[in-house]
Amino acid sequence: MNIGIDKIGCYTPHLFVDMKQLAVARDVDPGKFITGIGQEKMALAPITQDTVTLAANAALEILDEDDKEKIDLVIVGTESGIDQSKSAATYVHRLIGLKPQARTFEIKQACYGATAGIQMAKGHVALHPDRKALVIGSDIARYGLNTSGEVTQGAGAVAMLISQNPRLLAFEEHNAYATDDIMDFWRPTYSENAFVDGKFSNEQYISFFNKVWEQYKEKTQLGLADYEAICFHMPYTKMGLKALRTILDEGAEADRERLLANYEISKTYNKNIGNIYTASLYLSLLSLLENKTDLQAGARIGMYSYGSGAIGEFFSCVLQPNYRNYLYQAHHAEMFAARKEVSVTKYEEIFQEKLPTDGAAVSLNIDEDPAAIVVAGIKDHKRQYVNKTK
Ligand code: HMG
Repeated sequence: MNIGIDKIGCYTPHLFVDMKQLAVARDVDPGKFITGIGQEKMALAPITQDTVTLAANAALEILDEDDKEKIDLVIVGTESGIDQSKSAATYVHRLIGLKPQARTFEIKQACYGATAGIQMAKGHVALHPDRKALVIGSDIARYGLNTSGEVTQGAGAVAMLISQNPRLLAFEEHNAYATDDIMDFWRPTYSENAFVDGKFSNEQYISFFNKVWEQYKEKTQLGLADYEAICFHMPYTKMGLKALRTILDEGAEADRERLLANYEISKTYNKNIGNIYTASLYLSLLSLLENKTDLQAGARIGMYSYGSGAIGEFFSCVLQPNYRNYLYQAHHAEMFAARKEVSVTKYEEIFQEKLPTDGAAVSLNIDEDPAAIVVAGIKDHKRQYVNKTK
């Protein structure tokens, strides 16, 4: 049975910071942020967006009534969740109007959460072929003002519908994975911002990639020539390129050229949004699907997922006939075109805005946020979510 990604949508908030402006404000050569790190714009979440609303907004656009009837598994992967107990998936389930007969939960393992969700969804659909699963990666990446990670922050979500006979991509049989208990990046429950050992995290990302790439080759006998493209988890867009370069010698000149050219296309959305942790790999996949117009059905795409702490996984999927008819490219183009730039001073203000944590009630101005689903405030320790389309 073919199981895979039937639909894919993304959402990013309506505000962004230009990385050239951030570089100037931080007294850094803009070349470092734009070329050295590979980021052009950083998505900024207003106080009316959190990981629940980002997730719900990403899912809202792609689901029709038939999907809603068939979805009985909803998984949100996130590492910037809003509650230690209740899952983001349960809020999302209501906000987008799914039926009650469903399993809903949240998964955490740094940027790996959505990949874990996808693997679980694959098993679920294999057991229940007439059902569909909704898997969403949703995150707001925060390192803090004036930190070396600041340029890699971002906000957004990617929602994927997993089903049999998928219209976009079918998962192949094998997976290769590795785990090691390391401290490259983490965020203790008392901190809003992540802690990171930057250089070590880069080394580990590449080392895990090399391990799972070798393992996958052994399992499948596939080599570089068999891939049209390889998509990477993109904490910043230079990172995947550094990993890709470590294996390029295994291929012929044509393979190197093809994989490097497709890598450039696969970073289109990521360089304009920033790190969205769990969703970054899938945002890169979406960039490739929507911005490379001549991909052929049957083409194989490799997928490298990395979640600090750490786990790495490699798997692959195969493009399905007429996949382009089932993308939401025009919707995403509109979303990007409607974004507004904010100055670095305004970004710093928004970044430091917080919902009360002492039980006080607050009501937010939701008219300034064009998103369909927003946080309208807090009352009795409960976030008040609104779906403006209802
Ligand atoms: P840094 O110390 O600010 O930067 O940290 P750098 O000095 O290493 O320079 C970066 C690059 O810019 C270098 O290129 C410089 O040469 C270049 P490279 O050698 O790397 O190819 N450069 C310039 N290029 C052009 N013009 C110039 C110029 N100046 C310098 N004028 C770092 C960078 C990424 C470490 C930092 O931003 C950071 O800590 N980021 C957060 C951590 C991170 O993203 N780690 C990635 C791997 S871990 C991961 O992916 C998991 C994660 O997503 C979390 C999760 O799983 O939940 C983070």
